[in-house]
Amino acid sequence: MEYDVIIIGSGPGGYTGAIRCAQLGLKTAIIEKYPALGGTCLNVGCIPSKALLDSSEHFYNAAHTFAEHGIKLTDLQVDLPQMISRKKNVVDQTTKGITFLMKKNKIDEIHGVGSFVDPHTVKITKADGSEQTITGKNIVIATGSKPMSFPSMPIDKKRVITSTEALALEQVPKHLIIIGAGVIGAELGSVYARLGAKVSFVEFADSMIPTMDKTMGKELQRAVKKLGADFYFNHKVTKVENKGDEVEVSVDTPDGKQITLTGDYCLVSVGRRPYTDGLNLEAAGLKADNRGKIEVDANLRTSVPHIYALGDVIRGAMLAHKAEEEGTFIAETIAGQKPHIHYRLIPNVVYTWPEVAAVGYTEEEVKQEGIPYKTGSFPFKALGRARASMDIDGLVKVLAHKETDEILGVHIIGPRAADMIAEAVVAMEFRASAEDISRMSHAHPTYTEAFKEACLAATDNRAINM
Ligand code: FAD
Ligand code: NAI
Repeated sequence: MEYDVIIIGSGPGGYTGAIRCAQLGLKTAIIEKYPALGGTCLNVGCIPSKALLDSSEHFYNAAHTFAEHGIKLTDLQVDLPQMISRKKNVVDQTTKGITFLMKKNKIDEIHGVGSFVDPHTVKITKADGSEQTITGKNIVIATGSKPMSFPSMPIDKKRVITSTEALALEQVPKHLIIIGAGVIGAELGSVYARLGAKVSFVEFADSMIPTMDKTMGKELQRAVKKLGADFYFNHKVTKVENKGDEVEVSVDTPDGKQITLTGDYCLVSVGRRPYTDGLNLEAAGLKADNRGKIEVDANLRTSVPHIYALGDVIRGAMLAHKAEEEGTFIAETIAGQKPHIHYRLIPNVVYTWPEVAAVGYTEEEVKQEGIPYKTGSFPFKALGRARASMDIDGLVKVLAHKETDEILGVHIIGPRAADMIAEAVVAMEFRASAEDISRMSHAHPTYTEAFKEACLAATDNRAINM
């Protein structure tokens, strides 16, 4: 065999796994069908969306909060082409960084579509039509996911778009209709609402981000409503039609009526599907399940033991850091180590403003599982740091075991929640109790004091500043 490990797909799971393999002395190749490395996350996901979230937030603050800070601006304008161009530069620099890391770690980078010839052989079909075949002792499928849609909402990438097109619009929509008020809807809806678009969410469920703790969805909705958004919860889309300069979305209301929403763009953000097209899984003796996922065991091995799979193409949360952990896990497993991933402690973040971040059980889950629990909450409006920055929306909610006081879940909506959640992850990895956190010094004034206060509230209802 030419390689110890061949990795198909260079997203966060694939490239992290490749680097860890190389660190462990395994001869490694990575195959990527696009010219740039980094997968969905770096090219059309995490990084470009955060670049536009930051730019749009600056604009929004300049327009709505600077005056109160005593900063006067005149003639404020959105330069969307510049925002998109800055985003593109951020993406280019980041993906080039991955190419640098591949070279530094002596990983062979091969561009083209990878497909199985047999369980140890992968053929790479390059953009110019030429082919290369390589063999590996171990193979990792890290091919990620693609946006999902339904027949009633056919994507044309012009008026009916996915997140990929929404990250590169040439003009701010007048009216953006978003199907699905999940993570992508919330983030990209925030971007365009901040830039002045009218945004309407049509959502199957009864709240935004419905899979997270219900308190978070309710609070987030309040914040996004302030940006002027409309919500159609418990509504069902029956048809989406491109009418040239407009798009029409037909919707069934909960009381059995039919309404039509007209906008200039319709973003379909109803989830993503695992991507295995073109892999020729059968040649390796594999097949995807009926939802397109590749089945793996607890060691991330497929039914063919030397073929592993990770990230969005397998079960679990579709998150970059989950895929990264799995890349490391597979590399270490191949090298004979015994790694571990604590899946329940993978944090989940929505990069709206305020940000939403969570780890562990939701209140709905502890109830459902019959775990005795208590809660403690603390609102950011009671925090000096938050008042100083005028970021007073949101709260920290802590769930702790009723008898042992062990922290079971932490749910934050508020300023810098995305960074704050790391403390909760560490606490829970070390199985801290709410009282443990409430006895640790948190610098003042910081947003993290809200976590300590929520832990005090959960310990014995003894928050100090409330
Ligand atoms: P991917 O990143 O999807 O990479 C798979 C790679 O495999 C791709 O480059 C693809 O071209 C390549 N490939 C596929 N088939 C083949 C083949 N046959 N041959 C060669 N190459 C192939 N997650 C977060 O944690 N935080 C965020 O803030 C966040 N924001 C997001 C924003 C958006 C708009 C989107 C769409 C997603 C976001 N995600 C975020 C999710 C995150 O992008 C994914 O969970 C993550 O990229 C999954 O990593 P992966 O390695 O499994 O696959
Ligand atoms: P999602 O699963 O977060 O949300 C989809 C939403 O669409 C749900 O609320 C669902 O109820 C709704 N829905 C489904 N079918 C519908 C229909 N027919 N009509 C109306 N509503 C419908 O999926 P989303 O937002 O597309 O994102 C895909 C994945 O990408 C996420 O699950 C997440 O893992 C990842 N992602 C992560 C981000 C982050 O970590 N910050 C940011 C963006 C994406």
